[in-house]
Amino acid sequence: MTVTGGKPGHAALHLARAASLAPSPHNSQPWFFVEEGHDRAFEVHADAGRRMPLTDPGGREMVIACGAALFNVRTAVRHLGFRPIVEVLPEPADQDFLARVAFGAHAAPTDDEETLARALPLRHTHRGPFGPEPVTEALLADLRDRARSEGAILQVLDVPEKVELLARTVDTAERADRADLWRAVEPAHRVGPTGVPVTACRAHPDLTLLAGRDYLGLSRRYTVPQRRRGVGTGIIAVLCTPYDQRADWLLAGQALQHVLLHAAGHGVMAGFHTQPLERPDLREKVRREVTAGRHPQMVLRLGRPPYVGSTLRRPLDQVLTQRPLPLVR
Ligand SMILES: Cc1cc2nc3c(=O)[nH]c(=O)nc-3n(C[C@H](O)[C@H](O)[C@H](O)COP(=O)(O)O)c2cc1C
Repeated sequence: MTVTGGKPGHAALHLARAASLAPSPHNSQPWFFVEEGHDRAFEVHADAGRRMPLTDPGGREMVIACGAALFNVRTAVRHLGFRPIVEVLPEPADQDFLARVAFGAHAAPTDDEETLARALPLRHTHRGPFGPEPVTEALLADLRDRARSEGAILQVLDVPEKVELLARTVDTAERADRADLWRAVEPAHRVGPTGVPVTACRAHPDLTLLAGRDYLGLSRRYTVPQRRRGVGTGIIAVLCTPYDQRADWLLAGQALQHVLLHAAGHGVMAGFHTQPLERPDLREKVRREVTAGRHPQMVLRLGRPPYVGSTLRRPLDQVLTQRPLPLVR
C-alpha cells in the first residue's frame, strides 16, 4: 500500500531547481528527479530518451551532465544547512538511477559553500572569445584543487605543443562533424529557446584556437581570416579521470560543476569543445598524447567573458516526480 505524495515538498523543489541549472550537451537536460516521500530523499536519474544518439551513443556525456546536476543538488542541500548523504548508483539493476541524496546532520554552510550556491544561476557556457582580463594562477590552482577534491584531474595545458596538438584534434573532429549531414543536424536541431538559444552561439565558431561547434552554420557563410584566429581563447584545460566507468563519468560531472561554480563565483566562465571526445579514435589520441593516459572527459576553455548569456530550462513539473513511500502500519 502506498500514500500519494501530493505536491512536492519545498526542499525537493529547491533541489530540482538547482539541479536543472547544470550544463548538458546542447542543453538536452537528460535527467529527471524523484522526491522520495515528502522531502525525505532526492533521486537523480538519467533520462536516456534525451541522450544525443549520434554524438553520445554510450551515454558518457549524459552521465557527466547528470553528475553536474548531482553536484548542484549537493550544493543546494548544504545551502539548506544539511550535510548531503550521497549514494551513487544505488540500484545496480537500474544504471540510469545515478544517485540518491538524503539529508544528513544539520551543519551551517560555510562561506565557500554559500559562494558556490550563489554561483548556481550565474554560471553559463561562453562561446567565442573571452575578454583580456587574465585568469590568475592562484585561481587556476584552486580550480585544480576543486577537481582533485572530487577525484578528478583538471589538466591545464601550458605546453604550446600540447595546446597545438589538442587544437588540431578538435579541428579534425569539428571539420568531420560539419561535413557529416547527420552530425551537423544534431546540434542545429537543438538551437532554439528550449535548447541552445541563438544569442548564446552567435560568435563565429572559428574565432578561438579551439574550433567551436557550428550551431548556426556560420562557417558555411564566411571564413575567419587566419590572423584573426586565436584571440581571446583563454586558458585551455582537459578534465580527466583515472578510470572510465559509469561511476567515473558521474564523478567527472561533479568535478566539472565544482570547478565551474568556483570559477563563476570569481567571474570566470567556461566554453566547451568536446567534439574529439565523441569519436573513439580521437578520444584515444587525446588520452595517449595529451592527458598522459588519463581518460579525457571534458575539453574546456576558461576566461572572463565580455557578456554572459542565459539559457532556459524545462519547467520543474516536467523534471520532478514523486515516489510515494510504503505506508507503515
Ligand atoms: C558533457 C557536455 C558536453 C558539452 N559540449 C559542448 C560543446 O562541445 N560545445 C558547446 O558549445 N557547448 C557544450 N556544452 C555546453 C552546453 O551546450 C550547455 O551546457 C547548454 O547549452 C546549457 O547552457 P548553459 O551551460 O549556459 O547553462 C557541453 C556540456 C556538457 C555537460
